[in-house]
This record gives sequence, C-alpha cells and structure tokens, in this order.
Amino acid sequence: MCGIVGYVGKKSTAEILLNGLSKLEYRGYDSAGIALNLPSGMKVFKANGKLHNLKNVMTENIAAGSGIGHIRWATHGGASEVNAHPHSCNCGSLVLVHNGIIENFQELKDELTGCGCVFKSQTDTEVIAHLVAREFEKVKDLKTAVINSIKCLKGAFALCVMHNDVQDTIVVAKRNAPLVLGVGNGENYIASDIPAIIEYTKSAIYLDDNQIGVVSADEIKIYDASGNLLTSKVENLPFEPQALSKMGYKHYMLKEIHEQSDVIRNILAASPELQLKKFDRIQIIACGTSLHAALVGKYVIEDLAGIPVDVEASSEFIYRSTIINENTLVIGISQSGETADTITAIKQVKEKGAKVLIVTNRPDSTMARLADNLFPIEAGIEVSVAATKSYMAQLIAMYLLGILLAKDAEKAAVIKAELSQLPAKVEMILNNSTAIAEIARKYSNFKNFIFIARGINYPSALEGALKLKEISYINATGYSAGELKHGPIAMLDESMPVLAFLSEGIVYDKVLSNCQEAKARQAKLIAVTNVENSTHQGLFDDIIQIPHVSDMLSPTLNAVVLQLLAYYIAEFLGKDVDQPRNLAKSVTVE
Ligand code: F6R
Repeated sequence: MCGIVGYVGKKSTAEILLNGLSKLEYRGYDSAGIALNLPSGMKVFKANGKLHNLKNVMTENIAAGSGIGHIRWATHGGASEVNAHPHSCNCGSLVLVHNGIIENFQELKDELTGCGCVFKSQTDTEVIAHLVAREFEKVKDLKTAVINSIKCLKGAFALCVMHNDVQDTIVVAKRNAPLVLGVGNGENYIASDIPAIIEYTKSAIYLDDNQIGVVSADEIKIYDASGNLLTSKVENLPFEPQALSKMGYKHYMLKEIHEQSDVIRNILAASPELQLKKFDRIQIIACGTSLHAALVGKYVIEDLAGIPVDVEASSEFIYRSTIINENTLVIGISQSGETADTITAIKQVKEKGAKVLIVTNRPDSTMARLADNLFPIEAGIEVSVAATKSYMAQLIAMYLLGILLAKDAEKAAVIKAELSQLPAKVEMILNNSTAIAEIARKYSNFKNFIFIARGINYPSALEGALKLKEISYINATGYSAGELKHGPIAMLDESMPVLAFLSEGIVYDKVLSNCQEAKARQAKLIAVTNVENSTHQGLFDDIIQIPHVSDMLSPTLNAVVLQLLAYYIAEFLGKDVDQPRNLAKSVTVE
C-alpha cells in the first residue's frame, strides 16, 4: 500500500526516483509524485493516475542532490492530484511522503488549523508535514523535529522528510510499515521495498519500528525514539534484478503462472528443517489468497497429522476473544509478509504465549522478523498483483508441513513421492493453455460466474472466484457444491456459468450430482476434472481435462487452471491484468 523511494547522491535523482516508483507500482497506482530538494527551493511534481502520467509532466532534466517519490493507494481522500504525495507545509520548504494511516489525524488537523496551518488535501499525511515543519521552526534540526513529531502520531507510518534548509539529506522514520535503506558508495537509497533499489545496491539496512534514519550521500545514521545513535546492521539483499523482467511474456501474471513448475521444484529442494515446540492445536491466520492456501492446509494437516486446525481471516481474528495459549501453534501465511491484519494478529498471539510459524515468500519481511519459526516458500519475487505462484508455493508448504507432522509415515511417504511428480503435471496443463484460453474466450462476456467444489477443493472454488473477480471484475462467487441447493441455486439459469472442480476422491460422486442439479436449471456447466467418465460429455458444456493426482494434491493442478482461466478472461476483456483497479499487492493498512 503506497510505495516510497528516496535518493541522495550524484546520479540523476529524478531518473532513480521514477525508475524506483515503476518497480513499486504493485503497491498502488492512484497517483504519483516526486519532490527534488534544490538550493533554489523545493521542486514538486504530481500527477493523478498511473506513473506514466507523472513521467509526462516531468519533461525537464533537473539536477538535484536529493529527492523523494511516492506512489499512492488512496485511503484518506480520493485519487486526485491534490491528494498525491509529496505533501508540504504552508510555505513549501518541508515536503514528505508517507505510507500508512494516521489514526489521530483529525485531532491533529484541528489543532494545526487552529495554529494557522492551511490544509490543501484531504489526506491524513498532510498533518505530518505541518507537524514536522512546526517542530523544525522550534528546534531548527530536522532529525529532532521528526523525533518530536512522531511521538504525537497514532497509527502506522513510513516517512521520508526533506527540508529546503537541509540540503542533500533525507530524514526517515517508521512504525508498522516497511522501510529499507539501500547502502551505496557515495550515494544512498530509501524504499518501501527492495525491487525499487535492487538494481543499484545489494546492501541494505532495515529500519525497525520507532527508529529514525538520517540519510546523506556518505552515511546513514540510525537513532532510537529518544535520539540515541544506534549501531546499524547492513544486510545482503536476497533478490536478483532479472526477477523483475517479464521475460517475453505479455504480463507478469502469465510469466508467474508459467514459473510454477520450477517454484514447486525449488520449495521441494529447499524444504526447511523446522524445530517446532510441543503444541496441541494449530491456528492459521491469513488473508485473501493466502487464506485459501490456509484452508487447504487445514484439510492436509488434520488428515495427515490428526491435529485440530482452525483457520480464520486475520482481519476477523484480531477483533474477538480468541482462545490461544502456549500450547497453540499459530501459523501466519503471507506472500508479502507485510499484510497489516496478519501482523497485528501475530503480535496479539505472541502476547498470549503462542509460538508463531510464518510461511512467507519474503524472508526479509516484518512477519519473518516476528517469527519463532520461518518457512520461506521460495517462489521468487511476485510482481503481478494477483497472487499465483506464491499460492502454489504456499500449498506445497502446507503439504510439507503435513508430512513433517504426519502420524502415519507410510501415508506421508506416498504424498511426498507424489509431490515430486507434480512439476511435470503442472507443465502438462501449461502446455494445454491454448485450449483453456479458448474456453476463457467463450465465457468472457458473462457477467456472473459460480465456482463449486467440495472437500479439499472447496478452497479452489473460493480461489477461482477471487482470481476471476479481482482481475476481470466479473461478479464471481465460490460455493461449497453441497451448499448450492440451500439458496444460491435460485440464481441459476442459462446466463450463469457454473465451473465445477471435479476431482477423483471421496466427494467426486457428490459434486457430480450437484452438477446435475445445476444442469437441470439450464446453467452453463464447465468441468475441471482429472476423471475420464463418459457421463461428463452429456452433462458439461465444456471440459478441461487435467492430469491425474490424488484428492489431497488436486488443489495444486486446479490452481493452475483457475489462474489461466482468470488470466485469459481478463486479457480478452482488455483489463489491466497486472495492476487491477483498486488493488495493491502489499496491504499494509488494516
Ligand atoms: C489475491 C491476492 C490477495 C492477497 C492478500 C494477502 O490475488 O493477492 O488476496 O493474497 O492481500 O496478501 P499476503 O499473502 O501478502 O498476506
């Protein structure tokens, strides 16, 4: 949610900021802006909408020793040029960019307005600009002004602040929002996330909550909230710049779908040694697609290990009395490791004494840093906003965890052997993607969609619907097939396609009967199936035949199909596949 970039050094600051923002577009794309600190005054450029609009207004090549940039995902105040960051104080000599939400902004705004501050935007961020500027007037030191100001802030923030009286320096601070400082040679970088800086440096300092950084070209100094100088730890960044290329695919999403066979190979090869403390139940918390992986995990772990597993959306988990204690293993699943709801939930359960295992694609993330045990899923950086390969890797992590905790070693060995066959089967589906694209074309003009499944594929129905709606904006819902007759069946007629995941296993016959019920109401029926049965021909309008796997592993292959279908439907509709409207990849606000 919102991306921040900063640079101090001798290179073209504007170019570095624009390039960095282009790598952070997955964090938001409602507006963009840049401020350059020139001896003659601050130069601020802003544009509503996507980053290319900002590039269009930045036609001059202006040399500056320091600058900050921002890409916005709107929270307070709509998407507009006036609400775009950087925001400034009355006289414009102080500018700042912010990621997060200031919960007490209204109270601060009222007070600052009373002191003569004039607000130009509807954002919560602008209060910080006025607040720091007022402090700066008093103490004449930017670092102290930031330290004093953040004491008044409630909520989450990652900030970059510049003042025109302090050339070639950026002051940064953070609480509950990510910020990384890239260490260069005679230059330094700031970013919300590594992709913005990885092509310039592989060394970085991660700022902790309530720390303040003073970044100049030659040094980075880190202070605690009382202004004491701290020793900072420089770490090696984990990514290669080439991970950020589309490698000839039209979209990152398609590339990432095609990477899934290798993703499975990588995670199987890396499977970590986990030393888990004794526990008697498991609670999994996650959001969105990661929540669907968690639901599959419940089936897998309960079946293989016989341990009770509860799964809940983090955003629901945090606002009720939960029964968690030192005998509960809490598993947080998150691609980004930065999802605010899940971070809050993890902090809560840690206070109750639970041990936390984090399953994430970002071993450098906030969640990873909170973990008692870490399970990195090795999917490689995922750029497209819609999660695909990270979902696959999360599913495999659930199987590996089930195997690790299994009571029946023989059953676990069978699943393990079957996992090693998966990459080849995923490739078989990918090689058949033209047939899936044809079916996608046929259904791309329907306004509504229903996905059904039962058992371990119920989460596949949920994920199928989520993927379709988030990138094509088609109204799609996932139901457990058995629930259809308890209400949703009322919606069925020839205008409603129903896609059924029909995998061999305990619920196959039941799902087939539920499909018959849908057919009797004239619904268009699509099967995604690994069963060859002549009754399918008469029943389904379209059949996507996939390789055979056991019931337990079937969500993996179904995932590839649902991703390809969603991708091709969105692509036929001409949607912005990698950056769907209103979304952001890293959801750092509650
Ligand atoms: C959907 C999607 C989101 C995320 C959700 C959680 O394609 O990407 O639903 O799964 O925002 O994000 P993470 O996994 O980063 O915690």
